[in-house]
Amino acid sequence: MKVFLLNILLVTFALFSTISAQTEETIKVGVFLDMTGQTASFGISTFSGIKMAVDEINAKGGVDGKKIEIFLEDDQGKPDNAKLAVQKLISEKNVHAIIGEVLSTNSLAAAPIAQAAKIPMITPSSTNEKITKVGDYIFRACFIDNFQGEAMARFAIETLKIKRVAILTDFNSDYSKGLSDTFGTTFNHLGGKVVGQKTYFQGDEDYSQQLKAIKGVNPDAIYISGYYNSVGIIAKQAREMGIKSVFLGGDGWDAPDLWDLAGNSLNNAYITNHFTITSPDEKAKSFTANYKKLFGLEADAFAALAYDSVYLLADAVSRAKTTESSKLREALAITKDLHGVTGKITINNSRNANKPAFILKLQNPHFIYNSTVEP
Ligand code: PHE
Repeated sequence: MKVFLLNILLVTFALFSTISAQTEETIKVGVFLDMTGQTASFGISTFSGIKMAVDEINAKGGVDGKKIEIFLEDDQGKPDNAKLAVQKLISEKNVHAIIGEVLSTNSLAAAPIAQAAKIPMITPSSTNEKITKVGDYIFRACFIDNFQGEAMARFAIETLKIKRVAILTDFNSDYSKGLSDTFGTTFNHLGGKVVGQKTYFQGDEDYSQQLKAIKGVNPDAIYISGYYNSVGIIAKQAREMGIKSVFLGGDGWDAPDLWDLAGNSLNNAYITNHFTITSPDEKAKSFTANYKKLFGLEADAFAALAYDSVYLLADAVSRAKTTESSKLREALAITKDLHGVTGKITINNSRNANKPAFILKLQNPHFIYNSTVEP
């Protein structure tokens, strides 16, 4: 009788523990971002986008019954910290997948760790080509710089009829260097002329030396491939020096703080970007409206790409029917036509996302939709 009771107890316990294990089993997603530091506005928007998608998915019961659980590490925007963050997420939190970072230099630093551990990593917004070349576990939800650099060079030549450009590059950024390269090469290739090239350091406050040299060659346009925090100051100082050239740039300009730095000096500039709040797409529209309701802010490219990254992962988990890393990797690699708020996402053979870029015109404080460049 005693043995019988014990057996029943054991069976009940075993049953109960499998049930509770099943209900408690989550999809563990590690997130590493620049939540503080020079580019914190990138990390904060990105995390808002992640949070919004995760809450939506979990409110609907999760992915095939499994809730998503987020583990956030702040890397302060520093490559060495980015590495440590990914190490910690993998060895201490046992995450099934990783989302991060924004800045190409930081994603590039951390990707080899995820690759070595065979944990799928998706960067929502790092556009430098080298990142996904690190290995077969590294993906991205955005287009690459070759695409956006080419798109802007073509737009400058064909639509704006620009013939002579100068290029300004952030010396310490892999992103900026890669983007300047592709833009310049394509611009030359299409019959334009690069008449000046200068570098600067992020965090510089005085750009007069570079701008004096550029003023001397009087270009029709100046392509600035860096981030908003430098771009805003550069544009302002250029106008103060009497430079009249059109400003052109990439996704790195996208931040509300841009306008505090630049005032009206970036009016009539053009950039390539991943997202526009003026998108006519229904999904994008409802994302924009909900984002504003939740956070009291206009959605930006970071938030939109981050939101799409979570759905990219959720879609792969649901097709793989497991969080086992090699199966999850395989599922991510064959993502096709996933309808995101930044467009339809198809992961190609290089694990990059084939998707459109938007050309936006700047008018303090707005980024106004101009046209779409299809992949
Ligand atoms: N593409 C940038 C990089 O790779 C980051 C970025 C994404 C900046 C989106 C602005 C908007 O470093």
